[in-house]
Amino acid sequence: MSGAKITIHAGDNLPVLRSLAAGSVNLIYVDPPFNTGHAQARTRIETVRDEEGDRTGFGGKRYRTTTVGTKAFGDTFVDYMEFLRPRLEEARRVLAGDGSLFVHLDYREVHHVKVMLDGIFGRDAFINEIIWAYDYGARSRSRWSAKHDNILWYAKDPENYRFDHDAVERIPYMAPELVGPEKAARGKTLTDTWWHTIVSPTGKEKTGYPTQKPLGVVRRIVEVHSRPGDTLLDFFAGSGTFGEAGASAGRDVILVDENPQAVRVMRDRLARFSPTLVDDVSVDVDVDGDGDGDDSWLGHGPLSAIFCEETPSKRTSSSPVRRRRRRRQRQRSRQRQRQRRAAPGNCRTALERA
Ligand SMILES: C[S@@+](CC[C@H](N)C(=O)[O-])C[C@H]1O[C@@H](n2cnc3c(N)ncnc32)[C@H](O)[C@@H]1O
Repeated sequence: MSGAKITIHAGDNLPVLRSLAAGSVNLIYVDPPFNTGHAQARTRIETVRDEEGDRTGFGGKRYRTTTVGTKAFGDTFVDYMEFLRPRLEEARRVLAGDGSLFVHLDYREVHHVKVMLDGIFGRDAFINEIIWAYDYGARSRSRWSAKHDNILWYAKDPENYRFDHDAVERIPYMAPELVGPEKAARGKTLTDTWWHTIVSPTGKEKTGYPTQKPLGVVRRIVEVHSRPGDTLLDFFAGSGTFGEAGASAGRDVILVDENPQAVRVMRDRLARFSPTLVDDVSVDVDVDGDGDGDDSWLGHGPLSAIFCEETPSKRTSSSPVRRRRRRRQRQRSRQRQRQRRAAPGNCRTALERA
């Protein structure tokens, strides 16, 4: 094993970023929510042979479908730019002098975020826009089907940044006979347009976390833009793809996610690196499920709607009768929470398991 150190923070990334020392991180990759306007969810199903089942499989055999669980996070923002701005400002502060930031987006927000990052880093600090092109899923009948993501690369200092040309992957020439045997054998270096499959829905790499990015794409960023022993950071970490790419290559990685399900997936996925878990939410969060905490950390509307019932608020009682009623409500709420803890897919259960 590489000896790389992984730290996973469970909680909002802004306070975590503020707690990191200036200049302490060599490379940041982030894949923030894309502001799609709906919750990102992935439901895992299993099928078992059942003559009464709802599906027909090979040879006409019938199968019953059962839902194993759903992983999700909210992806709706009232003001996406104002959500991202302080986080990206902090990202610049924590970067080392020769450090770089990669921001993974899609067509919805990339142009707005580009302008904002030009303001934070300076226009000359923008080095590349990488296009990750894939070919998967339904095609539109009313416009060109969007089949790419955009990854913006900013260097803290455009005169001094890490780009290891020798680590750039090589691909075959389209017409090798035109370049001679030596060059043809070596292949040509990759450009800013990367064709790469999505994470296979049935492959080994899949964690079940929605929006998981392929290791192959993220690994290129790690290998070309950092050195073994460097400190890497992903503060929208999801299933921990950047953590896996970084730690496998001998880099220390700091990962942050506010979704307990993401934390659990990361903990399992990265178990072989013995990650350190830091619960940054326990100070203001109802982790023990007794209904006393502020659950705002659970994120943006849809996530709470999917996984959590409303938590009773702390209002002051005006009469003994109302106080008794509230006490009974709290008792019922605790009982419901205990029942929910036994059920899969519950946010607090997930955090406890994490
Ligand atoms: C697009 S996903 C990242 C997917 C990841 N790149 C992967 O390969 O699995 C974005 C993540 O940001 C997290 N997130 C959103 N707002 C956050 C915040 N304020 N603090 C920490 N994490 C946040 C969500 O819970 C979600 O897991």
